[in-house]
Amino acid sequence: MVTGAGSGIGEQTAARLASEGAQVILVGRTVSKLERAAQQINEGLSDPAADIFQADVTKEEEVQELAGFIEQKAGDIHVLVNNAGTSGNSSILNMEESEWDRIQNTNLKSVYLVSKALGRIMIKGKEEATEVNRSIVNVASLSGHKAGAKIPHYSSSKAAVINFTKSLALEFAPYGIRVNSVSPGFAETPLTEEGLKNKRFEEAIQRNTALSRVGRPEEIAKVITFAASDEASYMTGSDLLVDGGWMIT
Ligand SMILES: NC(=O)c1ccc[n+]([C@@H]2O[C@H](COP(=O)([O-])OP(=O)(O)OC[C@H]3O[C@@H](n4cnc5c(N)ncnc54)[C@H](OP(=O)(O)O)[C@@H]3O)[C@@H](O)[C@H]2O)c1
Repeated sequence: MVTGAGSGIGEQTAARLASEGAQVILVGRTVSKLERAAQQINEGLSDPAADIFQADVTKEEEVQELAGFIEQKAGDIHVLVNNAGTSGNSSILNMEESEWDRIQNTNLKSVYLVSKALGRIMIKGKEEATEVNRSIVNVASLSGHKAGAKIPHYSSSKAAVINFTKSLALEFAPYGIRVNSVSPGFAETPLTEEGLKNKRFEEAIQRNTALSRVGRPEEIAKVITFAASDEASYMTGSDLLVDGGWMIT
């Protein structure tokens, strides 16, 4: 299951997981985006690999409904990708409380809510089928490592996702469920679309990135898929930085 799968990194991750044989459930708030992404995955397949579920992952009741849907439809879940996220621009002094809450709820609270509800299903599944690879990947950010001036709410929420991942990894390790985070640098998605229209911003990214370019969402999706898969069977509580070398410049 991938949250925020109607666009950008989540959409590419769902497609990548499906291309490797997974049955995927795409979650988000906008049905039209989910339908389009699922249709692309299912195109040409005699057995559809993608299904959708509309949910706002900041709301516990909706997350419970999602868990109920998964239990009824699949009875189990092997991989959870907590990818839904959002950003905004504000200084601390000018930020409204509601804006702080919007970012924290979408980026951090959602990871807690979804991991709790779906983690229970994963633990139950693990008791019945011990040999299956089970893991959670949380999408954090480069900003969780290096704070940005006009994104204090975003940076703090993503640093918290990296640390929450480690706590969850400790809690779920006895059940054989691995939990890791992936921290993307700048990737071309609807989230960064507006910023990247500004030539100076794009040039600054190129200047500050060792690989001298913005990333593509599928480049992040590949690393998320790796962390989710049993290729990463000895990795838990780790954060994978996929930033084109921003942190080393
Ligand atoms: N692009 C980058 O450069 C970059 C860098 C570092 C980290 N990231 C992280 O990567 C993740 C994916 O971002 P992206 O760049 O792919 O942006 P995106 O295209 O805007 O994707 C975010 C997705 O999350 C969904 N979403 C937002 N709030 C939600 C909610 N309350 N409930 C359910 N779904 C929700 C959105 O769909 P709806 O609005 O329809 O719900 C959207 O499809 C985010 O966590 C972001 O912080 C991105």
